[in-house]
Amino acid sequence: ATITHVLGARPNFVKAAPVIRALAALGHSQRVVHTGQHYDERMSDVFFVQLGLPEPDINLGVGSGTQATQTADVLVGMEREFLDNPPSLVVLYGDVNSTVGASLAGAKLGVPLAHVEAGLRSFDNTMPEEINRRLTDQLCDLLFCTSPEALGHLAREGRPDAAMHLVGNPMIDTLVANLDKFDAAAARAAHGLGDGRYVVATLHRPANVDSPARAAELVRALHEVAAEVDVIIPLHPRGRATLSAAGLLDSERIHVVEPLGYIEFMSLVRGATAIVTDSGGVQEETTLLRVPCLTLRPNTERPITITSGSNRLVTNEELAAAVLKACDDGPYAGELPPLWDGQAGPRIARIITTWLAAR
Ligand code: UD1
Ligand code: UDP
Repeated sequence: ATITHVLGARPNFVKAAPVIRALAALGHSQRVVHTGQHYDERMSDVFFVQLGLPEPDINLGVGSGTQATQTADVLVGMEREFLDNPPSLVVLYGDVNSTVGASLAGAKLGVPLAHVEAGLRSFDNTMPEEINRRLTDQLCDLLFCTSPEALGHLAREGRPDAAMHLVGNPMIDTLVANLDKFDAAAARAAHGLGDGRYVVATLHRPANVDSPARAAELVRALHEVAAEVDVIIPLHPRGRATLSAAGLLDSERIHVVEPLGYIEFMSLVRGATAIVTDSGGVQEETTLLRVPCLTLRPNTERPITITSGSNRLVTNEELAAAVLKACDDGPYAGELPPLWDGQAGPRIARIITTWLAAR
């Protein structure tokens, strides 16, 4: 009996590492499938090395494409994989196209499915991820939730209580497990940041970076921030062309760099005065690190980062003032979300073990 993990994109790697480690500790046989959705060394390999993930048993080589072609290639590839290597359970992570493609392939073959990070909702179907989340949660037998409100969303969508488990947040497990490796001084030195204040920005949501008009607004807002404080931007490949065409160029106060490895990225975040982002995971990581987070989105599927953390949704017009306020206010100190204690992986592994034994 083998548990198959399906990984495709950068956030999947960060979430899967603690689950795979905890299942290995309980003696389960496991298989890791990489769909190939992310493939650059800096978007993929570096995470396997730094997080101690086992080398994938197979890479489907799906690569980039439109929403339909990428999802369809995952669907076809995963069907072949499940037929060749029938799993006792498949573990899916997050909300990327690899997640939904694998869930549909598995469900049609009657393969049992578990979803890590179930029940998050932005209620915004213009995000491809919202569609992926809703569909995946409909198809999965085990639903592992990071946040209490997720259970309510799943119940309202007709999912059975017995399938849902509030387990904490495996992305936070990874953060806690690596805390002593984050070296803010080394990160400053690596990027020539001196000892002053700095802001880290990450941008990659289609709504922000795909249209030249929207990209131009954001670049203007980032220049306003850079007039006050150094800004360092590890730029996701998705935004590269549009943002640089809109004038986001390496300059004295704006440092545009390649995507960073996990340890290098979190080292920078740990030492930052504030973070500007449209990432999902970064809203959660900054909640634990108590670094002020300004999210350039009209909504979030992670509202607990606002109520329990330092996150705030801002428009590009509000951004510069919000960064200056964060610089004045300093680090946030509040109560963390329940079970964000670094033990989500072991909780998930115990529930899976019991569930498999009862089948
Ligand atoms: C995907 C996820 C998103 C997640 C993000 C994490 C979906 C629908 N989106 O978005 O939820 O937040 O990953 O980073 O699944 N590219 C490269 N090298 C790579 C990978 C991508 O250059 O290794 C470029 C390609 O031009 C590609 C573009 O980035 O077309 C977008 O990649 P894709 O995986 O389709 O979506 P992301 O924007 O990365
Ligand atoms: N991350 C990283 N290097 C970077 C940017 C991000 O290691 O340059 C990590 C970080 O831990 C983040 C995770 O990758 O939480 C996933 O990030 P991303 O923003 O790509 O995906 P999302 O969470 O928005 O789906």
